[in-house]
Amino acid sequence: MTRNIRIAPSLLAADFARAGEEVRAVTAAGADWLHLDIMDGHFVPNISYGPAIVKALRKHTTIPFDVHLMIAPVDPYLAAFADAGAQVISVHAEAGPHLHRSLQTIRALGLQAGVVLNPGTPAGVVAPVMDLLDLILVMTVNPGFGGQSFLDSQLPKIAALRAMIDATGRDIALEIDGGVTSVTAPRCIAAGADTLVAGTAVFGTDDYAAAIRGLRGGQVANGKAA
Ligand code: DX5
Ligand code: ZN
Repeated sequence: MTRNIRIAPSLLAADFARAGEEVRAVTAAGADWLHLDIMDGHFVPNISYGPAIVKALRKHTTIPFDVHLMIAPVDPYLAAFADAGAQVISVHAEAGPHLHRSLQTIRALGLQAGVVLNPGTPAGVVAPVMDLLDLILVMTVNPGFGGQSFLDSQLPKIAALRAMIDATGRDIALEIDGGVTSVTAPRCIAAGADTLVAGTAVFGTDDYAAAIRGLRGGQVANGKAA
């Protein structure tokens, strides 16, 4: 089976001093979504940027903004990211006791809602909230930093989530984040992923279009990497 693969470059690996230009460049290079990593120095051991930066970038592209919130608490900030121009907002299952409420809030803001699973979090946590999900994001590194190595241990979880999504008959995106390269991308796709986040593998290169093509090139046709 051939799945359409979405590539979501992560701004975290871009040159922040030229952020608008970088966003225009990846858009021209064929990015499907822009992945925006929000870190609070509390839920994860790093600080990135907030809704004001997201809003400032919104006028540089028309592709969807895929906002990955690595913050706790998360609920008080959802409206600010909606207002900043997000289309998809994902919250970590581990961010607090009220995952269901966070997803309801994102949907009530008129956006697509996603849940993120850390490497140590089992696939089963999504089961009770499946009806509220538009996206499941599997971390293939521990969140907080770009440029880390892909965790092979997460591949069975990706496959398990693909089966859970297919069983719903609903169109829920299955996104992978961390250590995605032209080597690991085909393995993610073979396990059932349809959306790939890539920071270093896009912004760390000289040719964004070639990098995006390379990641997309791992599409699975009839069970074999094409
Ligand atoms: C890590 C972030 C990722 C990061 C990925 O916490 O969620 O989106 O930018 O970076 P690479 O692709 O370099 O592993
Ligand atoms: Zn991310």
